[in-house]
Amino acid sequence: MNVLVTGGMGYIGSHTCIQMIQAGMTPIILDNLYNSKNTVLDRIEKVAGVRPKFIEGDIRDKDLLTSALKDNAIESVIHFAGLKAVGESVEKPLEYYDNNVNGTLVLVDAMREAGVKTLVFSSSATVYGDPASVPITEDFPTSATNPYGRSKLMVEECLTDFQKANSDWSITLLRYFNPVGSHPSGELGEDPQGIPNNLMPFVSQVAVGRREFLSVFGSDYPTKDGTGVRDYIHVMDLSDGHVAALEKVGNKSGLHIYNLGTGNGYSVLEMVKAFEAASGKPVPYKLVERRAGDIAECWADPSKAINDLGWKAERTLNEMTEDTWRWQSNNPDGYPG
Ligand code: NAD
Ligand code: UFG
Repeated sequence: MNVLVTGGMGYIGSHTCIQMIQAGMTPIILDNLYNSKNTVLDRIEKVAGVRPKFIEGDIRDKDLLTSALKDNAIESVIHFAGLKAVGESVEKPLEYYDNNVNGTLVLVDAMREAGVKTLVFSSSATVYGDPASVPITEDFPTSATNPYGRSKLMVEECLTDFQKANSDWSITLLRYFNPVGSHPSGELGEDPQGIPNNLMPFVSQVAVGRREFLSVFGSDYPTKDGTGVRDYIHVMDLSDGHVAALEKVGNKSGLHIYNLGTGNGYSVLEMVKAFEAASGKPVPYKLVERRAGDIAECWADPSKAINDLGWKAERTLNEMTEDTWRWQSNNPDGYPG
């Protein structure tokens, strides 16, 4: 199966390409390299034994997309491309709506023109806003507290309306919880540009000596130890979730919505401890004020994906931290180039 993978050079997309190749699928990557490097392709080839075709370009370029879909006999699309930094989205809302919302509309329009009717979209647990309770099921109410989250919610709503009007399409919305970890080879991982926004890349940069200490945002939440609790999911499990979605519901028309999480919540301090154990390095931290817009706790009820997709997150917290450390210590400055 030829699958167009937008944003396939990025963190989650690159790992998913490897799992797709392993499952016998043929990923064709389209990415504008805004937040990634083309040396990612060498690593995918090294690990998977196949160098995916790469089209450098932007999802907002409809002619390019239409020809990419037609010329490569694409049967389905996994759509990762987009901007993802919550704080930046507050400063640059137009860029976020243009890339994430407009970009997705252009993609769907090109798919319609090329007759490709299967789409898997990268959504986020951020669409649950501040959930009334945990664990979270797919029928919880949705809301947004920042432009990034709103862009994901808007895309979900656009795709829902579009699928209603085009009942022969298969559209899957995958709501990721907190992706962490790296390919176990240590060849691929998360390579944020500048100061990392997310916990795990920050922790691993402290452990490797690139940063002095971690600021723990808030220690007075009503959680087990006062720090924020999240559902961290290994990026390899998340990647397998995409393969399962394509295999199990990619050929069934309809709108399919799944949480991709483990169902377990870990606190910031638990993550720090686990990382210290895996790396053998100290991770100095300071307890500071809460970060604006953060919620106390958030974890998934993954039953729907387990039942429908036959998929379950299986990698342990140890694997998440050990694999992150292998990537970070082998590649202290990220990908070359
Ligand atoms: P990433 O930044 O590593 O990957 C995104 C890729 O898309 C990058 O390679 C970037 O160059 C490319 N891209 C961005 N705008 C583009 C455009 N207009 N045209 C073509 N390519 C473009 O991010 P990631 O962590 O791999 O996330 C992938 C998707 O998953 C995103 O849509 C993100 O919002 C979503 N998501 C991520 C997380 C997370 O914590 N990482 C959580 C929930 C959802
Ligand atoms: N945290 C710190 N210090 C840091 C970074 C984070 O204490 O330097 C804490 C946060 O306060 C939070 C936890 O670590 O309690 C996780 O924070 P992240 O920034 O790693 O992740 P978030 O849960 O805030 O958000 C992530 C993605 C969003 C996505 C959301 C749900 O960044 O894009 O998960 O999937 F929407």
